[in-house]
Amino acid sequence: MPRIAHALVTGASSGLGREMVRQLVQDRGVTVLATARRLDRLEQLAAELPPGRVHVLAGNLIDTGFREQLWQQAIDLPGGLDLLINQRGCGQLRRIRRSRSTRNPSDHRAQRDGTDDLSQKASRYMRARHSGQILQIFSVLGFVGIPYSAVYVASKHAVNGLVKSLKYELRETGVRIWAACPGRTASEFTSTALGVGGGQGGIPTGEPTVRVVRAILRGLDGRGTFLVPSWTAWAGLKVAEWCPPLYDWFVARWATRHVGSALGRTRRERNQIAGDR
Ligand SMILES: NC(=O)c1ccc[n+]([C@@H]2O[C@H](COP(=O)([O-])OP(=O)(O)OC[C@H]3O[C@@H](n4cnc5c(N)ncnc54)[C@H](OP(=O)(O)O)[C@@H]3O)[C@@H](O)[C@H]2O)c1
Repeated sequence: MPRIAHALVTGASSGLGREMVRQLVQDRGVTVLATARRLDRLEQLAAELPPGRVHVLAGNLIDTGFREQLWQQAIDLPGGLDLLINQRGCGQLRRIRRSRSTRNPSDHRAQRDGTDDLSQKASRYMRARHSGQILQIFSVLGFVGIPYSAVYVASKHAVNGLVKSLKYELRETGVRIWAACPGRTASEFTSTALGVGGGQGGIPTGEPTVRVVRAILRGLDGRGTFLVPSWTAWAGLKVAEWCPPLYDWFVARWATRHVGSALGRTRRERNQIAGDR
C-alpha cells in the first residue's frame, strides 16, 4: 500500500473527524487539510499539533463554491492528495412528520450531493495518479433501520450504495474506496441531532472516540470494503442479519425508552424556553 502523506478530512471540528486528524498527524506523520464550518475549533486543533501539519479551511460543504475552493487547496498540497476522508455528517432525531428535510428536501439532498461531489472529484483525480484512498465514514445505519431517524438512515444507505458501486469502477486503477461503519460513538452527534446544543438528552453515550478512530485508521492498511470498528456495532449487525425479530424487538424497545423520551423532553424544553421569553 503506498504511503499516505497528505489527507483531506471533512467534519474535523469535533467528534470522529477531530480525533482522526489528531491520530493521522501524530501516529502516521500525515499532513492534513482539515475542514468544517467552525473556524475557531479548526484553529485550536491545528495549534495543538506540530506546526505545519494541519492546514485549515472553514466553510459549509453544502456550498458548491466552497467545495471547489476546498478541492483546489487539497490538490495543491505539495505532493498531491493521497487520502480523502468524507466524514462530515449530522443526524436528525425526529419523527418523520417533524423532519426538517421532508419539509425542505433540497436541504437534505444538498448535504448528500456534497459527499458525492467530493468522492467524484477524488476518484477522477486519484485515478489519473493511479493511487489514493477514499474513505467514507457512514454507519451501521447504512445497513439497518431505527425509528426517529428515517431521513438520516436513508442518507447512510445511499453512501452504502455509492461505495458498493464505485468499488467496481475503481477496480485495478490503484484507487481504493472503502467505508467505516461505526455504531454509537461519544461525540456531539446526539446533541446536534436532538437540536438541544450540548448534552445527550438522557441517551447513553457510545464507544470512546479515540478507540473507534484507532480501529478505523487501522483499515487504511487493509483491503476490505466495509469495516465495523467496534464489537458492539458488529454484534448489532449480526443480530439483525441472523435473527431479525430479536433485532426488531431490541431496537423498538431501546429507541422508545431512550430516543422517544428524549424527544418528548427536548420539545418540552424548547416550549419552556419559548414561554420564558
Ligand atoms: N457519533 C455517532 O454515534 C456516529 C455513529 C455512526 C456514524 N457516525 C458518523 O460519523 C460522522 C461524524 O460524526 P460525529 O459523531 O463525529 O459527529 P459530530 O461530533 O457532530 O461531528 C460532525 C462534524 O461535521 C461537521 N459538519 C456538519 N455539517 C457540516 C456542513 N454543512 N459543512 C461542513 N461541515 C459540517 C461539523 O462541524 P461544524 O459544525 O463546525 O461545521 C463536525 O465537525 C458522521 O458522518 C456520522 O454520521 C456517527
